[in-house]
Amino acid sequence: MTSLFQEVSPGAAAETPTRQITVTINGERRSAVVEPRLLLAHLLRQGFHLTGTHTGCDTSNCGACTVLLDGTPVKSCTLFAVQADGHDVMTVEGLAGPSELHAIQEGFKEEHGLQCGFCTPGMMMASKALLDENPNPTEDEIRWALSGNLCRCTGYQNIVKAVMWAAKKLEDQ
Ligand code: FES
Ligand code: FES
Repeated sequence: MTSLFQEVSPGAAAETPTRQITVTINGERRSAVVEPRLLLAHLLRQGFHLTGTHTGCDTSNCGACTVLLDGTPVKSCTLFAVQADGHDVMTVEGLAGPSELHAIQEGFKEEHGLQCGFCTPGMMMASKALLDENPNPTEDEIRWALSGNLCRCTGYQNIVKAVMWAAKKLEDQ
C-alpha cells in the first residue's frame, strides 16, 4: 500500500467506509485505501502527488484534468477513484521518456501551444489519445478531438499547430 487518503472528521474514522484499490499509473502499480467518494483527480494530485493533472472547473467542462484511462481520455474530476481500480491510468507525467520529451510536448514547445499552461496537461493527454488512434489527423479532426478542452489564452490556433507538428514528428520517427 503506497498511499492512504482519507478525509474524515475527528473520531469518525472507524465509521467511514473505505476500499482498497490498485491502479497502474504511468506503468507503475499503486495501491491506496480510499473513500468511495474520492475523485480520481484528487487521488492523483493529493494522494500520489501527480500535480501535472490540473483541476480547473471540477464540473467536467474545462478538460484540464484529462488523463487516459486504458487509453481513453477521461475527465478525472468526474470519475471516482474506485472506478479506476484495476485499470491503467496515464497522466501527463507519463508522457516524456527518461531523457527526452514526447513529440507532443515538443510540438507545444515548438509551436508556442501554451501561454499560462493551465490547460496544457489536459490538451496534451487529449492529443495523445487522438494521435494514438489517428496518427495523421486533419485540422478539423484535431479541433474536434480537443473540443472538450478549454484554453483561455492561446486562441487554439497554436495548439492545433502543435498537434500537427507532433503528428509529423511521430510519422518521421
Ligand atoms: Fe475536470 Fe475541469 S477540472 S473538466
Ligand atoms: Fe492558458 Fe491554455 S494556455 S488556459
